[in-house]
Amino acid sequence: MILKKINYFFYLLAFGFFYTDIILSQDAEEFFSRTPPVYNPPDELLGWIDSRKYQNLNGEWHYIIDPMNNGLPEESFFGGFPQNKLQSDGLELIEYNFENAKTMEIPGAWNAHDKSLLFYRGPVWFYKKFTHKLSKNNLSHLYIGASNFTTKVFLNGKIIGSFEGGYTSFNFDVSEHLVEGNNILIIHVDNTLSKDSVPTKKTDWWPYGGILGDVLLISTPKKFIQNAYLQLSDLSQKEFLFKAQLNSPAKVKVNLSISELNINKVFITDEDGFVAQRFNIDDLELWDTINPKLYSVIVKSGDDQISDEIGFREIDVIGKKIFLNGNEVKLRGISMHSEPIDEEGFAFSRKHFKELLKYAESLNANFVRAAHYPYTRHLAKLCDELGILLWEEIPVYWNINWTNPKTQASAESMLSQLIKRDWNRASIVIWSLGNETPYSLERMNFMISQRETAISLDSTRLISAALLSGNAAQFRSLVYFLAIEGLKHDFVLPEEKAIFKGITDQMKFLYGDQEYFSINIDDPLAEHLDIIAYNEYFGWYYTSFLVDQIGVRESILRKLMFKIMPSITIKSQFNKPIHISEFGAGAKLNYPNKGKIWSEEYQNKVYEHQLAMLKNNSQVQGISPWILKDFRSMMRPLEGVQDYYNRKGLVDERGRKKQAFDTLANFYAEQW
Ligand code: GCU
Repeated sequence: MILKKINYFFYLLAFGFFYTDIILSQDAEEFFSRTPPVYNPPDELLGWIDSRKYQNLNGEWHYIIDPMNNGLPEESFFGGFPQNKLQSDGLELIEYNFENAKTMEIPGAWNAHDKSLLFYRGPVWFYKKFTHKLSKNNLSHLYIGASNFTTKVFLNGKIIGSFEGGYTSFNFDVSEHLVEGNNILIIHVDNTLSKDSVPTKKTDWWPYGGILGDVLLISTPKKFIQNAYLQLSDLSQKEFLFKAQLNSPAKVKVNLSISELNINKVFITDEDGFVAQRFNIDDLELWDTINPKLYSVIVKSGDDQISDEIGFREIDVIGKKIFLNGNEVKLRGISMHSEPIDEEGFAFSRKHFKELLKYAESLNANFVRAAHYPYTRHLAKLCDELGILLWEEIPVYWNINWTNPKTQASAESMLSQLIKRDWNRASIVIWSLGNETPYSLERMNFMISQRETAISLDSTRLISAALLSGNAAQFRSLVYFLAIEGLKHDFVLPEEKAIFKGITDQMKFLYGDQEYFSINIDDPLAEHLDIIAYNEYFGWYYTSFLVDQIGVRESILRKLMFKIMPSITIKSQFNKPIHISEFGAGAKLNYPNKGKIWSEEYQNKVYEHQLAMLKNNSQVQGISPWILKDFRSMMRPLEGVQDYYNRKGLVDERGRKKQAFDTLANFYAEQW
């Protein structure tokens, strides 16, 4: 007992010295602050990775949840988790242990794997021990297919670098940090978002956190082909554009061959290791949605050889029509999120997308809108094989911080990483710059600069962005036309008719000579788009916004909306095709109150009225209803109905079809 007291006394004494030492020798602020280490950005993106030699690091990884970032070198007293200190004689004070930590499958989202992390937004550490055989003639690149949203990489205790930006691929040359035998790869992932991030922290989809794409250790010769681009640049001339970038700035030969087309060309790069050449060929079989023809393409330079399966086609807009290989085409589409069918979490694999695209095909769709962020490379590869046209998008979603240079840089980086990864995919016909961004001069400058980035990397695809539905003036006119309709029906109460009478008397001078409600898409951004994409929710939203303004029952406004929908016109003064990038309604599978909000019958009624309306609008050349499958959203809490799912899916989260599924499938098969 005495001994214990003496020990306690010495502990106190020691702590006292320790504490005073801090205070006397330097102020606490200085002691607690750490000079932040330097995290280098990733290298230039490696392209054509499926044809390269690589060690696959997917599989079981250990993970430690670290909400206070206590394990970050710059925030820890003990050097941080990347040091991966191990006990030797049981007297080392080490307050973390990766080897004993819980495990999960990577790629994967921690929200789906660990129930305690469903809503978690913060840092998690991942740990992988792997054996590696060094090769002195090659370089080794750590390639991460996607990681949300900020990622810091450590190998064998050394800082490799960091990448800010979710969903897109990135890689680091780790050759000098690899050792023969056992290597320890530790990755810090933080899915926190902010008002300055892309997207911001408010999204109507789940901010899945984790390493969400493949983790590959890719081997290349010391001089290698960084990336290459081969696309049909002018169908009428059967002209190709070939670009290649080597990692070393030197004039060297690059050989392009497509044996099936008897193409075997040699090009010389410039002193920066870059080549861009156009050349014509006699004939080729075009890629399209009926015959998705792919050619085996090989690019060689020095000791490096890469290959890919590439389809060649031309997508164009002339006036208000869309053309694929010179033939007019309508986009019979469906929107989706990257969530697997009947499985929690983020869709990342070929298997996930095969299942999702099967549903798209049974809708008789020829087009998929991959909203609102980049998916892994497997989706576009599958769409190439299946002949499904594809819209890819970056998450410039709603109101982001248009004037923050970091925000702009992040969006720019995501767009260029996406395009450099997928620019050989025939299925991709549209790059989308964002979704429902409110008009402002700052937003215009931001989006126009984004468009320039996209076109500088690839000028063979269409540029679009999903625009918001209408402005205050347009919704005021909607009130007028609902009131006109309201005066015609007995299901409207006399006191409600009196309100409608007042509205029509007041507004007649504005719209008297107009017969039907009409939307004119006048967002100035449309000037800079090849296809005007437009999200509208007639039959679902709007009426709930108008109830307070008009002061009549929402049920009446909904009935009146259905009456006027088939005659609504949607057009734009911009002489371009309109793509309805979203319409929809929520429904819980087998909801008992038939015909009411959340019932399949109500959702189906919205689809029937929407499709009747859109069929009558000749400037509408594409549709991708919102959405294929119910998806998780922190914005949708309604207990017993939504349960944190957005229920606008045509199938529920387990893939079970709702009534409206067949309504859309039949419309695409027979009427549009
Ligand atoms: C918006 C938005 C989607 C959202 C949808 C909805 O238009 O683009 O991300 O999920 O509407 O409200 O369900």
